[in-house]
Amino acid sequence: MRKFIFLFAVCATLASCKISEEVPSTPHSINPMTTSKIFDPHSAATSDARVTHLHWTANVNVETHVITANASYDFKAEKGAKQISFDTKDLNIEWVKVNGRLARYTLDEEKPFLGQALHVEIRDIDNLVSIQYTTSPNAEALLWVEKENELPFLFSQSQAILARTWIPCQDSPSVRFTYSADVTVPKELMALMSAENPQVKSPDGKYHFEMKQRIPSYLLALAVGDVAFKSLSENTGVYATADILELAFNEFSDMPGMVKAAEDLYGPYAWERYDVLVLPGAFPFGGMENPRLTFATPTILAGDKSLVSLIAHELAHSWSGNLVTNATWNDFWLNEGFTVYFEQRIMESLFGKAKAEMLATLARQDLNATLAELPAEDTHLKLALENRNPDDGMNDIAYNKGYFFLRTIEEKVGREKFDAFLKNYFQSHAFGVMTTEGFIDILTAELLTKEQADEIGIDQWIYSAGLPANTAVVQSAELEKVDELRLKWEADEITNKELPWNNWSYQERYRFLSNVNFNLSLSKIQSLDESFHISKIGNSEVLFAWFMLSIQAKNEAVFADLATFLEKVGRRKFVAPLYEAMENSGYHVTALSIYGHCRGNYHAVTQNTVDETLHYFEK
Ligand code: BES
Ligand code: ZN
Repeated sequence: MRKFIFLFAVCATLASCKISEEVPSTPHSINPMTTSKIFDPHSAATSDARVTHLHWTANVNVETHVITANASYDFKAEKGAKQISFDTKDLNIEWVKVNGRLARYTLDEEKPFLGQALHVEIRDIDNLVSIQYTTSPNAEALLWVEKENELPFLFSQSQAILARTWIPCQDSPSVRFTYSADVTVPKELMALMSAENPQVKSPDGKYHFEMKQRIPSYLLALAVGDVAFKSLSENTGVYATADILELAFNEFSDMPGMVKAAEDLYGPYAWERYDVLVLPGAFPFGGMENPRLTFATPTILAGDKSLVSLIAHELAHSWSGNLVTNATWNDFWLNEGFTVYFEQRIMESLFGKAKAEMLATLARQDLNATLAELPAEDTHLKLALENRNPDDGMNDIAYNKGYFFLRTIEEKVGREKFDAFLKNYFQSHAFGVMTTEGFIDILTAELLTKEQADEIGIDQWIYSAGLPANTAVVQSAELEKVDELRLKWEADEITNKELPWNNWSYQERYRFLSNVNFNLSLSKIQSLDESFHISKIGNSEVLFAWFMLSIQAKNEAVFADLATFLEKVGRRKFVAPLYEAMENSGYHVTALSIYGHCRGNYHAVTQNTVDETLHYFEK
């Protein structure tokens, strides 16, 4: 009874709050039906009519690269609402019905990044809108991969605001809904979504999907390919094409242990299954935390499990991001900073403190580089992305400055208290959205004393540039040793043979290569390849660091291997810096020629970045 009175009091303070299972148990998380107070600069759809469920019916044509589809939404509107709005980009809308009758709708003018808002007229009695449409062959979220002698592969990448290029939707992370889907694909291919998935192909190419937990639109995902499934444990497994299924199965053998470690830290896994789909090399990210089914790049298949921290990261998003979601892309650090912190904790739990500290030290190295590059105003945790592509904010600041903020708090209050706080945070705001300000309120109300909050300097972390002086210090004896040896090697005090390359972990190798002075003699740089065969290494992070060093050192001997890598891999984190290094090291023509050849294989996310780096359209 007391709880009811409390809830009632909270509701009474929120305009037109509806009592339902969606009412949060504390005033801090935000009820999806009353989030109209949240202004999302990247969505035209945060109005007083909100979708609650999507049923998507789709036919995937791998020849024309077109999806013919119907998106039917259940919605709830405030009384008197005259329209319901959606985000769309490059969609051909055929018709719109409301409660079964053809409805009047308007499409706004096209805006850069954002596309066209779709407004549909509604009456008070309406609760169902149905949109019939086709996608464009150039839909930015979708990549249709075609290779000789292989069946086609289609995958989507919706984050941050690309879901609207394949489904008309309320494309703001502050809007959550459940979904179901009926998808038809060619018989020889399997369809998978961020939902309950098949484990074998259906004989007629028809698949039904259910996502019973409410998700934001950026977690809508589809993949269609000639893949098979292999189980890792009762509730985990891998999907991949036959040629790499076994490799993926071995590489990800730690997955069940990771799920257990994560649950031990921050509470029960809310999504029933955790599977990973290995995508073609063109996937523009390392991983994407699509619920129930992480999408992953094949570049983490190192052959020795050395890159599994990426799985820890995507799994961690099942709590930070997917369960408690950033309200807008300005709050992106709430998704990624928390996830890097959580990822480190999973890694520490499975592989020990020394390994986790190596990862944290490399995170600090990357963060220093990013801080040196970005304009000061882009290094605040709380971003100001209005009128900008949210992609501009998707960098190391959110990830690693976010991580160091949380780690600094952990060190201030002690791990035990911090863990209890986080566990409770995920539980009490599950399936809700969170603003930066909301989180800070909770942090100061529930965890920090006034004195501790002042010592941490929360506002400085959130609203100021750079890294505060009190940033937690990370130290890795292993990486310090690497630095020491590198300096000696650079000064010719020790030879290649005295470098313990073969005993080094990937983190140590990466630390070494990413810090070697590229002005050393070409023959000295080249001798590394002769001694350690780095150009042929299976670990893509080490290979990337080697290519970066080689480009800057003008080691053209590796350029053939580099071109092959750029042909096979479309992961932006690798591809964009490699082209940029070529551009900056006097290889503009080479870069353009490789890019001209590879551009068509890349996803729009990667294309957009590299187009800019190489001034591709400014000739
Ligand atoms: N959610 C991100 C990927 C993303 C971010 C896609 C922003 C679109 C916009 C994912 O969880 C991620 O962070 N991936 C990283 C891997 C990670 C280990 C840092 C990546 O892709 O490299
Ligand atoms: Zn992430």
